[in-house]
Amino acid sequence: MIVVFLNLKGGCGKSTSAIHLSRYLLKRNKPVTLLDADPQQTSIDWIEGLRSVIPRPDYHGAKQPKTLRMQLSDCLNNSEVTIVDSPPGMGQIQRVALLFADVVMIPVQPSIPDLRATLKLLKMLRLIRRTRRHFKPTATFPAIGKPEFKAFTFLVRTVPNTLLVDKARTVLRDREEAYFLELDIPQRQILADAMGIGATVFDINTQPARQTAESYRRLFEAAGF
Ligand SMILES: Nc1ncnc2c1ncn2[C@@H]1O[C@H](COP(=O)(O)OP(=O)(O)O)[C@@H](O)[C@H]1O
Ligand SMILES: [Mg+2]
Repeated sequence: MIVVFLNLKGGCGKSTSAIHLSRYLLKRNKPVTLLDADPQQTSIDWIEGLRSVIPRPDYHGAKQPKTLRMQLSDCLNNSEVTIVDSPPGMGQIQRVALLFADVVMIPVQPSIPDLRATLKLLKMLRLIRRTRRHFKPTATFPAIGKPEFKAFTFLVRTVPNTLLVDKARTVLRDREEAYFLELDIPQRQILADAMGIGATVFDINTQPARQTAESYRRLFEAAGF
């Protein structure tokens, strides 16, 4: 299964969520490969900084579209989960990832510019779906004939009872391009701190970490992981 974290915006929690999904699956003894397609390499830095007792996924950098395509072709017939952490935007690299994806995860910050960017991204997903439906698989893109990917939006860095969160929920609900998971990842300092501690919130035994781990657990469960 190929899971792609995607958003036109940076800083919305793609890498944080991708790392936490990998750790969540490893805790359930599911093998995971993480492909970091972002030249900033946040995911790779996070994984390499994990304390030695913490299990880590297999990981590779995949900054060039061709490299990513070859790595995803290798993962295609693999039953294990491959997670792609993509850079912001919609260029060649994200298109390649979307031609292989089974599941697309779209973290959204509740801000007006982020919501606008998300609506734009959802329109782009329609075009990618059309491509996936109408083109025959080729040697370069063997996944093209695969059935459609599932796409999920979810809110991150939410502050409860704010107008923007309500507005974001209204905008994201009932969109046909992506199912809105109504399980937010709240704004939590521990998520910003976890990388520096060499851990994920699944490995930290404090109340804020346990609460945040529970938010991620519920989110991933709702997405079918
Ligand atoms: N729920 C959250 N609460 C607080 N800080 C967060 C949360 N999610 C992400 N962050 C922080 O926001 C910044 C951007 O997150 P990151 O996952 O790197 O975004 P992206 O990969 O989309 O650019 C990082 O400093 C990260 O620690
Ligand atoms: Mg990132």
